[in-house]
Amino acid sequence: MNFNTDLSCILVIFGGTGDLTHRKLLPAIYNLKHSGKLPDNFALVSIGRKDISNDEYREQAYKSIKNSSRFKIIDETLWEDIAKRIYYKKFEFHDSLGYKELNSFLDKLDNSYNTKGNRLFYLAVAPEYFSLINDELYKQGMVKNEASWQRLIIEKPFGRDLSSARKLNKKITEVFGEANTYRIDHYLGKEMIQSLMVLRFANSIFEPLWNSKYIDNIQISSSETVGVENRGGYYENSGALKDMVQNHMLQLLTLTAMEAPVDLSSSSIRDEKVKILRSLEDITPEKIKQDIIRGQYGESMIDNKRILGYRQEDKVSLNSNTETFVALKLHVENYRWAGVPFYIRTGKRMKKKSTEIIIQFKSIPKFLYSKEFDNLNSNLLVIGVQPREGIYLKFNTKKPGTENFIIPVEMDFCQTCQFESNTPEAYERLLFEVMNGDNTLFTSWDEVEYSWKFVDNISSQWGSEKLSLPNYESGSFGPKEADELLLRDNRHWWNL
Ligand SMILES: NC(=O)c1ccc[n+]([C@@H]2O[C@H](COP(=O)([O-])OP(=O)(O)OC[C@H]3O[C@@H](n4cnc5c(N)ncnc54)[C@H](OP(=O)(O)O)[C@@H]3O)[C@@H](O)[C@H]2O)c1
Repeated sequence: MNFNTDLSCILVIFGGTGDLTHRKLLPAIYNLKHSGKLPDNFALVSIGRKDISNDEYREQAYKSIKNSSRFKIIDETLWEDIAKRIYYKKFEFHDSLGYKELNSFLDKLDNSYNTKGNRLFYLAVAPEYFSLINDELYKQGMVKNEASWQRLIIEKPFGRDLSSARKLNKKITEVFGEANTYRIDHYLGKEMIQSLMVLRFANSIFEPLWNSKYIDNIQISSSETVGVENRGGYYENSGALKDMVQNHMLQLLTLTAMEAPVDLSSSSIRDEKVKILRSLEDITPEKIKQDIIRGQYGESMIDNKRILGYRQEDKVSLNSNTETFVALKLHVENYRWAGVPFYIRTGKRMKKKSTEIIIQFKSIPKFLYSKEFDNLNSNLLVIGVQPREGIYLKFNTKKPGTENFIIPVEMDFCQTCQFESNTPEAYERLLFEVMNGDNTLFTSWDEVEYSWKFVDNISSQWGSEKLSLPNYESGSFGPKEADELLLRDNRHWWNL
């Protein structure tokens, strides 16, 4: 970890006119200011190709903040203080002169804002530019690693496969070093993902049960109701496995399954997460056939509206084989989890938008309530990640007024209900952590490497095998094969 308590810095956003910057990064900067977390010595330089002035860029930034900030009313005094620190620079990423001019401009801003040479370079750009920008920053002497600090934030996807990820990593760490490289997985910035460690390790009631003796299975689902929207070109080369499983889903799995770290330092937590990735069972060709299900959404009507199938989306091939849904059954081969299946599922155009982790506990012995047994619900602990953040425990009780009629009830902690709109958003928290020099909430190279190994194994065996797609309707819970995956084990998905 590279702790440096001086948060003073210039944030340089490559891709400053893009969707991510407008919807997430600019609102995050305002939110940090609003919460008193933005350093006094701060400036922001956004880079894009559009021909606009500083004032035009500031106007656009204001609109984006108004649309997307978690604070519904913009405090004009705070905004004015940010606005005068925002600058826009137009240049082509291939143009070395652009970086040279940017470098002198940043040096000048250091004098105006006392930012001391500290830089936070955010690559909010398509992956094909990651390496190029990294190399130019190095060539122009913009990464000094002296008394000041320079950090790189890099968006997903980190590589297209293991080999490209290794190449990219080598280049980037040669310039910035691992300690100054912040690989974003924005799920790690989500409130409930941080609560997960607290839930497990700050309560004596859960951790003793958190193992194969008491847990029947764990389900990790992340579903979206939207399709690929305008990202068809990107998605065609990615698919759900690389877009979601390689990063977000495996991150949720590691945090759910890992052992308690020796302390809360970034390296101790990352070590435990890596051990889980190393313990994943081997993915054999038979396993791929049986336990990994692919799907693609087809055309359908929802609320009298025609919904395009994936193959009809812009920049998608009419016979595309790309999966928009994956479900898989996995085992973590260690003492704690021996025999416990982890079912993972993610898809687009699903029935509801939701990310959750469901811990299903084992059934009780069939003695006392044998007559009612078939109707007894399993005990579930549900961690809602988004959009509903919270934790609830589902257990059985006697229906009041009956003799032994057993019904399931919930003990519900709804975080979004209790702390509405005041919980920081993922990008806000992540930006602050980078300024603070703490990389706990970012993916380490080891994690990326093991995740790619896992995913490459599957995608190389999938190869160009032709499938009968599409195989699920938009607005459903995915293909029937995903249900059969659990039915074979006498289980079912909890579509809560
Ligand atoms: N959008 C999201 O919600 C989201 C979520 C997670 C991850 N990401 C990742 O974040 C990154 C950015 O995504 P995005 O959706 O914001 O992309 P985007 O809307 O297409 O924005 C791309 C940005 O890069 C600039 N740009 C592209 N080529 C350039 C060049 N040759 N020279 C100079 N500037 C150039 C564009 O400038 P002009 O517009 O001025 O041409 C624009 O500012 C991607 O890696 C994506 O995978 C995005």
